[in-house]
Amino acid sequence: MQLHAIIIDSDGGEHILTGRAGENIMQLARIAGLPIAGECNGSLACATCHMVVEPNWADLLPPVEDSEEAMLDTIFTLKPTSRLSCQIRLSAALDGIRLTLPA
Ligand code: FES
Repeated sequence: MQLHAIIIDSDGGEHILTGRAGENIMQLARIAGLPIAGECNGSLACATCHMVVEPNWADLLPPVEDSEEAMLDTIFTLKPTSRLSCQIRLSAALDGIRLTLPA
């Protein structure tokens, strides 16, 4: 089953990512050529996969765990719904989730 996430870039352009359940948003964004470094490949050792989740989707995500929160605390442009996109995995419940790339 193909699932989707929608990424809004800093110019307001929308990019539809397609993947399968369990794939993380950071990896899909990199494959799509979006400017997400994901330097640690999802091991919670950087914050270069930072994205801002649209508020109506944010409550559907699992809570932020301590290790993610420690990295989020290093982000200068942190927003209330900021998350590390490597920790967001596609699922049927999150099909169509919308996230914004930080400026
Ligand atoms: S890719 Fe490094 S924390 Fe997400």
